Amino acid sequence: MQKVIKSTDLKSDLTKVLSSLSYDRLFVLTDENTEELCFRCIDNVDEIKQAGKIILKAGDNNKNIDSLVSIWKYLSENGATRNSLLINLGGGMITDIGGFAAASFKRGIKSINIPTTLLGAVDAAVGGKTGINFIGLKNEIGAFAPAETVLIDSVFFKSLDKSNFLSGYAEMLKHGLISDEKTWIKLLQFDTFNIDYDILRELVVESVLVKENIVEQDPFEKGVRKALNLGHTVGHAFESLSYKIGKPMPHGYAVAWGIVCELYLSRIKCGFPKDKLWQTLSFIKENYGVFPFGCDEYEDLYTLMTHDKKNESKDRINFTLLEDIGKLALNQTADEEEIFESIDFLRESIGL
Ligand code: GLY
Repeated sequence: MQKVIKSTDLKSDLTKVLSSLSYDRLFVLTDENTEELCFRCIDNVDEIKQAGKIILKAGDNNKNIDSLVSIWKYLSENGATRNSLLINLGGGMITDIGGFAAASFKRGIKSINIPTTLLGAVDAAVGGKTGINFIGLKNEIGAFAPAETVLIDSVFFKSLDKSNFLSGYAEMLKHGLISDEKTWIKLLQFDTFNIDYDILRELVVESVLVKENIVEQDPFEKGVRKALNLGHTVGHAFESLSYKIGKPMPHGYAVAWGIVCELYLSRIKCGFPKDKLWQTLSFIKENYGVFPFGCDEYEDLYTLMTHDKKNESKDRINFTLLEDIGKLALNQTADEEEIFESIDFLRESIGL
């Protein structure tokens, strides 16, 4: 099982983790921004000084086949064997592609994830989903391949800009919605305009536990793990379209707006309480700004949803909906008209 360490002393915890694993060569994968801002937090560890360093261009649009080839190539040309270890230091883009590179290189080498963004810490780095985007589709190619260990240190969150913070926070909100009312309320009450990092750390620890718990029960998403897809069927379509038109939207913003649409569907199909829909909506409205699409994009968004890998057939779009906070309704579906209605609801209620 994947070990998740909520660290308060990264140097010491990383040293311990490295000495507990057997490997011949060590490699660190990161991106240009993370290298500049975060690498110094681990380069005081002796083993890291000797490690091969692979640096990708930053941004989810670089989570692609060319970057993957460049990682394989570096590993091959620099003596990596099946007994080598790859550390993925970065946000979701790095832990996704690095995890997949590790899973596929020589049929699989070990990896460690050190998420440096809130999104990475509460979602991408934990639970073993790895992969790359392909032909305009999010995470179209990939594998379930958990890192040996995930080391989460909140020291990185202090340097995040607001949009990166909010991007991760949307996944935390999702974890609140699928777990219990107490967690959900705490998340809605958190002051995102004046961040208290001690409180944030506690919320992150709770959020990671929600995810760990679910993944432990269902690592390959046959059942309860589908809860983690709340907001993502519509959200991934928003995100993919934003990349297609060259105006990339942060993942969590797409998820936040996807949550509004999918809570609307939850309301009309599963009786999700109206007041809780409005409370969640008002938090998202206050924090996530202007939704960028209009009705001219609905058809494209719908087509993208039909490609979602969660669908069991092309004409049945799969949703995770809620009857209430923490009350899951898995494997739901909605037709084109209902989906368009949910995007209308989002656009009308957050104001255009
Ligand atoms: N990001 C959702 C999951 O890991 O299942």
